[in-house]
Amino acid sequence: MKKIKINSPKYLMLLSILLVSVACHQPNVSSKEQYSDKYRLVWNSDPKSTMTIAWNQYQGKPLLYYGRTQEMNQSITPQRVVKYRGMNNNFVRLTHLEADSKYYFKVCTQNNCSKAMYFKTAPNTPKPFTFIAGGDSRSIPRGRIRGNILVSKIRPLFIAHGGDYTKSGTANEWQRWLDEWQQTTSADGRMYPLLVTHGNHENKDHAMLNKLFDVPNVDVYSKMDFNFLSLYTLNTELEPTVGYYDMVSKEKWNKHKKWDAQTAWFKKELEQDKQKLKVVSYHRPLRPHKKSKAEGRLRYAEWSPLFYKYGIKLAIECDSHLVKYTYPLKPDLLGEEGFVIDKEKGTTFIGEGSWGAPTRKNDDDKSWTLDSGSFWQFKLITAMPNKLEIRTVKFGDENRDYDAKSVKELTQKEQDLKPTRIPKGLDLWDSKVGKVLRLELGI
Ligand SMILES: [Fe+2]
Repeated sequence: MKKIKINSPKYLMLLSILLVSVACHQPNVSSKEQYSDKYRLVWNSDPKSTMTIAWNQYQGKPLLYYGRTQEMNQSITPQRVVKYRGMNNNFVRLTHLEADSKYYFKVCTQNNCSKAMYFKTAPNTPKPFTFIAGGDSRSIPRGRIRGNILVSKIRPLFIAHGGDYTKSGTANEWQRWLDEWQQTTSADGRMYPLLVTHGNHENKDHAMLNKLFDVPNVDVYSKMDFNFLSLYTLNTELEPTVGYYDMVSKEKWNKHKKWDAQTAWFKKELEQDKQKLKVVSYHRPLRPHKKSKAEGRLRYAEWSPLFYKYGIKLAIECDSHLVKYTYPLKPDLLGEEGFVIDKEKGTTFIGEGSWGAPTRKNDDDKSWTLDSGSFWQFKLITAMPNKLEIRTVKFGDENRDYDAKSVKELTQKEQDLKPTRIPKGLDLWDSKVGKVLRLELGI
C-alpha cells in the first residue's frame, strides 16, 4: 500500500474531509435544519411544584432532558402532541418539582439538542416576587417585541397575559407570535411561564388556548395558589351575547350554562379561600375607559359583589388598549356607573391591555378613575405578603420609538439577593400617585 506523506496536499485534503464529516455528525444547535422551536412555559397547575413546557417539533422523536443542575440527568417524553395552527405542539407536564428552585431543560432528538434553558418554580415561603400582567399583544409586532424584550430584563416569576394575543388566531399569526416570544428569554437562558387568559380575539376556536398552551380547563378559568396570594383567571368570553365567531353560535345552544358554571365555581373557590391577598385577571373590563366599548353589565352585576365581599384587592383588565388605575372601589348602585370609592375594603382596577395593539384614546374616565393614559405598556407588580406595588412599564407607541434593549438586564444573582429588585432604566408611568401605586392590606 502506497504511503501518504503527512505534509502532502493529498494528506491535508483527506484530513480536512475527515474533520468536516466529524463536525457534521455532532449535535449542532445552529444547524440550519430545524428540529424544534417556539418554546414556551405555562403554569396550568400548582406553580410551586409543576411546569408545562411546550414547543413545536419539526422532525425526530423528542425527549426532554431536565434537572436541577446543568447536567439535566432526568428525561421525559411529551405526554401530549397536538397538530394545530401548522405546528406539532408538544407538551411535557413536569410535576413533583421542588419549590423556589431552578430547573434546566433542553429538547433533544437523536441528532440534535436545543439550547439549554431554565425556569424557576414559585416559592413555598412568604418570599416576595414580581410578576408582569398585560395583554392585547395583537397586530403590531414591533410594539409587542419591545414588551417581550423587557420581560427578559425584568425576570418576573410569571406573566399573566390578559388575552388577545394575535389579531385572528391564524397559523401565521400564532407562529410569528411564538417566535417573537423567544425574545422574552434572558441572556442566561431563563424563560418565564405564562398564565393565560382567553380574549375575544381567541374566539374563533373555543379550544385555542387548550391546543396551544395545554390549558386543562377548555373554558380557561382557574385559580393559582402562591404562598401568600391567590390569583384567579376568569373568562369574559363565556358571557352570553358577548364575543363573536363560534362563541355566539355555542351560546345560542348553551344559553348561560358555561357562564353560570364559571360564576358558581368562582364563588365556591372564594368562600374557601383563606388567603388575605387575592387578585383576579380577565379580558374585558367591567367598566371600560373607552366610550365605544360596551359596558360589562353582567360582569358588573355578578362579579363585582363577589370581588367586594371576598376582598379581591386587585382586578387586572384588558381589551381597550389604553392605561388606567382606579381608586379602590365598592359596588354601589348610587355611584357613577355603579361604583363608589372605598379605600379600606375596595377593589382597585388596573388595565386596560396595550402590549402592542393599536393604542386607543382614554376618553371615558369616571369620578373614581385615579389616572389614565394611552401608550404601549404592561404592569409590573411586586407581591409581598401584606401589600402589592404596581408599576406601569411604558414602551412607546405607534409614533414613539422605544429601545427596550437599552435597559440593563437584572442579573439572576441580583434578584436572588433581593427578590423585589427591578432593573434600572425602565420607563415608568408617572401617574397622579407617582411611579408606584401601593395597595396595602388592612390589619
Ligand atoms: Fe379584546
